[in-house]
Amino acid sequence: MKFFVEKMSLGFCGFFGRHFCQVMRQNFAQSCEKKLNDQINMELKACHQYLAMAYHFDRADISSPGMHKFFIQASAEEREHAEKIMKYMNKRGGAIILSSVPEPIPCFQSSLAALKHALQMEMEVNQHLLDLHTLAGKESDPNLCDFIEANFLQEQVDGQKVLADYIRQLERAQNEVGDYLFDKYMGATSGMHGDK
Ligand SMILES: [Fe+2]
Ligand SMILES: [Fe+2]
Repeated sequence: MKFFVEKMSLGFCGFFGRHFCQVMRQNFAQSCEKKLNDQINMELKACHQYLAMAYHFDRADISSPGMHKFFIQASAEEREHAEKIMKYMNKRGGAIILSSVPEPIPCFQSSLAALKHALQMEMEVNQHLLDLHTLAGKESDPNLCDFIEANFLQEQVDGQKVLADYIRQLERAQNEVGDYLFDKYMGATSGMHGDK
C-alpha cells in the first residue's frame, strides 16, 4: 500500500486502470501537482473548521442563527473550492491525494473570536494560493497560473475584506445587545461572497 501511495504521489498511475489519467498530461510539474494537493487539503480543512463553527453557533446556549447560516455557507464554499481543484487536477492528468483532516477548534468565546479566526485562516489559504501561483510561474505553467487567477485570487481578497469589515463592526458593538443585533444582520447577508 505504501509503495502504491508513493508511486501515485510521483505521478505513476499505472495501477487499477488509472493509467488513462496520464494520456493528456503535458507541462505539469510534479512540484505543482504536490502543491495543488496541499491546496485541496487546506480547502477541506477550512470546510471542516467552518462546519464546526456553524454548529457551535447553533447550540441552544449560544443561539446565533445568523452566524450559523454564515458559517454553513462558508463551509459549503470551501468544499466547492476543493472539488474545483480536484476537477482541475484530473484535467491536468495529476493524481489526487487526500490527507486526513485535522480536528477543528470546537467552540469559540464569542462571534468576534470566531470571525478573527476565520480571517486568519483565509489569509493562510490565500498565502498558499499565492505561493502556488509563484511556483506555477517558476515551472512555466501558464495554464495553472490562469486557473488560480481566474478562480481564486480575487475571491480570496473579497472574502477577507468582508471578514475584516464584520470584525470592525462587531468591535464597535461589543455588548449583548450589539451581538444580538449583529447576528440579526448576519442572518440577512448572503455569505462571504454575496456581492460578487
Ligand atoms: Fe477556499
Ligand atoms: Fe474561503
